[in-house]
Amino acid sequence: MRALTVFGVTGRMGQAVLRAVRESDDFVVAGAVASAASARLGGDAVLDGPPCGTPVSADVAASLAGASVAVDFSAAAAVPDHAAACAAALVPLVVGTTGLEPRALEALREAATRIAVLVAPNTSVGVNLLERLAALAARGLGPTFDVEIIEAHHRSKRDAPSGTAIRLGEAIAAARGGRLAEHAQYGRHGEPGPRPPGAIGFAVVRGGDIVGEHTVLFAGDGERIELTHRATDRMVFARGALRAAAWIVGRAPGLYRMQDVLDV
Ligand SMILES: NC(=O)c1ccc[n+]([C@@H]2O[C@H](COP(=O)([O-])OP(=O)(O)OC[C@H]3O[C@@H](n4cnc5c(N)ncnc54)[C@H](OP(=O)(O)O)[C@@H]3O)[C@@H](O)[C@H]2O)c1
Repeated sequence: MRALTVFGVTGRMGQAVLRAVRESDDFVVAGAVASAASARLGGDAVLDGPPCGTPVSADVAASLAGASVAVDFSAAAAVPDHAAACAAALVPLVVGTTGLEPRALEALREAATRIAVLVAPNTSVGVNLLERLAALAARGLGPTFDVEIIEAHHRSKRDAPSGTAIRLGEAIAAARGGRLAEHAQYGRHGEPGPRPPGAIGFAVVRGGDIVGEHTVLFAGDGERIELTHRATDRMVFARGALRAAAWIVGRAPGLYRMQDVLDV
């Protein structure tokens, strides 16, 4: 049995992770963390089901006591503190939070010198397979096909494009022998002019309760290929996060990816 600390426990994903823990025979809740401003501090971590007996806390270090692994679905700004606390407590960490800025990435690299850290902007099996398929298509179709990545999410999502869209772009750029930073084109407005050769374009849709959709479009002259993944239930991310959490326990310090976990 593994004891799990959940960062961002009061959020949509935090609650889905607790449901996945209830479904699983392998995990118990060790700690439940929200922000110091959370309206839920002190209450049971489960907001919409049978209580789990662990209260919501903003004390990150105390919430890691007795934990064998932690998962983070909180806010990008909170990730450096969570990473430092996990490194100090020697608790491996799965980071599902997206929109990570250089400071957070640096904090994760630093933590990864002491603990195993898995950064997973998308924990679904299907999206990780999509990443492989997109890289294969990019290699097979070559640079004459224009690549556009279109993603859609619910109205509350804070970052754009999604971490998954960016990861897809990185995989495609790498498959073409380049780096995304050299080819990314984020949104178009006014008179952006003709499409630069080799660009990887991003388009973002936000609305309603869309859980997460990603399409990679390869547009050539006279034909196109569209690869689409649609998540309709965020439990796919929660179950994937628990799979990653089970996998990372006992791993050597270092940075890992979801592709290391999933046999796809
Ligand atoms: N990897 C994946 O597969 C995947 C899938 C879906 C979403 N995500 C990502 O996961 C993250 C959370 O998404 P969500 O939809 O669950 O968001 P959400 O519903 O807004 O929940 C955010 C959670 O973070 C907590 N929080 C906010 N600021 C914090 C801080 N400074 N310190 C500690 N906790 C803080 C919130 O707690 P209080 O407000 O109660 O303090 C809440 O529990 C986002 O980055 C999202 O893009 C990843």
